[in-house]
Amino acid sequence: MVEQPGYDAMADIYAGTFSEAFGTPLEQRVVDVFVDLLRDGDDRPMVCDIGCGTGHIAGYLSVSGIGVVGIDPSPAMLAHARRGYPGLSFVDADAWASEVALEDCSGVIARFSLIHVEPQQVRQILASWFRRLTEGSLVLIACQGSDNPGVHEFDHAVARAWRWHPDTLADALTSAGFTEVFRTVSRPGEGFHRFPEVHIVAKRSVAQGNGDDVRS
Ligand SMILES: C[S@@+](CC[C@H](N)C(=O)[O-])C[C@H]1O[C@@H](n2cnc3c(N)ncnc32)[C@H](O)[C@@H]1O
Repeated sequence: MVEQPGYDAMADIYAGTFSEAFGTPLEQRVVDVFVDLLRDGDDRPMVCDIGCGTGHIAGYLSVSGIGVVGIDPSPAMLAHARRGYPGLSFVDADAWASEVALEDCSGVIARFSLIHVEPQQVRQILASWFRRLTEGSLVLIACQGSDNPGVHEFDHAVARAWRWHPDTLADALTSAGFTEVFRTVSRPGEGFHRFPEVHIVAKRSVAQGNGDDVRS
C-alpha cells in the first residue's frame, strides 16, 4: 500500500483548514445527485469513499441514509475520521481498495484523492474497480481540472498531484468500461480553488472493461 507522509504530517492543519464537507454549493449538489441516483437503483446503497480524508463526506453520506466505508492510506487522516464519525467504518487502504469487497458496494466516491495517484495507475485502478463492481454501480470522481487535454502535474501543497482535462478523465473511465452519466466543470472562484474543478459520475455498465488486474 502507498504511504502518504505529507497527509500524515499535515492532517491537523488540513482538518482545521477544511472543516466543512464541501467547498462550494455545486460540490454538495453533485454528491446529492449521486445519492439520488444510488437510491434509484438500490434500497440500501453501500458506498466506498476512497481517499476519505477526515471523513466529512462519509459522514454526509451516512446522514443521507447511505451505508459507507471510508478508506485512506494516511493513518493521521483516518484518526480524524474515526474521532469525528465514531459510528462509521474506516479502513487503512489506498485507491486499489483491495481490502474492501467492492462487489458489495453500489457506489464508489473518490473526491480529490485520485489526483495523488500517478495517471497511468489511475487507469489500472479504474479497470480494477470495474471488474469488481456489479452492473449498475456508480462511480463519482472529483478532481482539479485542466483546460489543456491530458494530465498535468501541479504544485499541490501536500503531496504529488495531477490534474485532468475532463475529456481525459472521461476517457479513462470509458476505457475501463464505465459509461459516463454526467459531468460538471466549475471555474475557479475568488479566494477558493485555483483550477477548474471536475466532477464525473459514471456507471458500471454491462460491457466488459479492458486489461487484467495489473497491481504490482
Ligand atoms: C484532498 S484530500 C480529500 C479528502 C476527501 N476525499 C474529501 O473530499 O474531503 C485527499 C485524500 O486522498 C488521500 N490519498 C492520497 N493518496 C491516496 C491513494 N493513493 N489512494 C487513496 N487515497 C489517497 C489522502 O491521504 C487524503 O486523505
